[in-house]
Amino acid sequence: MTAVPLGPPRRLVEFTLDGEPVRVPEGATVLDACRAAGKDVPTLCEGDTLTPKNACRVCVVEVEGARTLAPACSRRAEPGMEVSTDTERTRHSRKLVLELLASATDLSTTPRAEEWMRHYGADPGRFGPGAARLDEEAKVDNDLYVRDYDKCIQCYKCVDACGEQWQNSFAISIAGRGFDARVSTEHDAPLTDSACVFCGNCIEVCPTGALSFKSEFDMRAAGTWDESAQTETTTVCAYCGVGCNLTLHVQDNEIVKVSSPHDNPVTHGNLCIKGRFGFQHVQQR
Ligand code: SF4
Ligand code: SF4
Ligand code: FES
Repeated sequence: MTAVPLGPPRRLVEFTLDGEPVRVPEGATVLDACRAAGKDVPTLCEGDTLTPKNACRVCVVEVEGARTLAPACSRRAEPGMEVSTDTERTRHSRKLVLELLASATDLSTTPRAEEWMRHYGADPGRFGPGAARLDEEAKVDNDLYVRDYDKCIQCYKCVDACGEQWQNSFAISIAGRGFDARVSTEHDAPLTDSACVFCGNCIEVCPTGALSFKSEFDMRAAGTWDESAQTETTTVCAYCGVGCNLTLHVQDNEIVKVSSPHDNPVTHGNLCIKGRFGFQHVQQR
């Protein structure tokens, strides 16, 4: 049988990563190369289904000869470049970024934030108790999902997923300037009065838990949310013939949230309201 190539072969780019020669396909980022080489570079605003936004700068690396540090998530690999991922400059920069984020935001539900803070010796307290925080109640204006902007790092991932990169609903955007900048619906309307179609594709990409299923929000408030007790089963949505893949997160025999595999070549982690939130009938007894 003759193998059919899926696309034109890509040239390989060779460069040096932490002193070791590496080769990645043309167009790959430094972060792609780091991951292929098993290097643990922290990321927050980077999303595997989104165009890099360079919003958080926690992934910075040092490129020989460059004046400034480069975000690994968006910097394309170039032949002959010499990249260092773990230098005094990168560590100092990551520490400061984490301190600034943690001084202004609640990172308690951001996966790995605590580990990174420890690793880089970040001390957000040194900015004092007056550091600008939103200090706002979580927005619970519907039965499906909650927006807790005290946990928002303004990474733009939800805005891009809701906008032209995936959903094209444009229900949310960044409003305000400077310290007042925040993710908002038009005129800060409740989601139910906005352009939101409740696809939940914004929840899928949010890196901090600022956006969460109402079920998760309620269970966290009740102290019953326990990821270690959850199973994940990927299945096919039964609502229509598109056949999107759903990953059901189940705790105590109840579906507690639904995600979608990002590597699915059709849906790329995106769903509609039925696949994302329409699971209650499964649990009717
Ligand atoms: S649920 Fe969908 S439509 Fe609503 S804000 Fe999120 S991405 Fe936009
Ligand atoms: S709500 Fe989440 S995805 Fe949206 S900007 Fe804030 S942290 Fe990023
Ligand atoms: S992860 Fe690279 S800039 Fe945010």
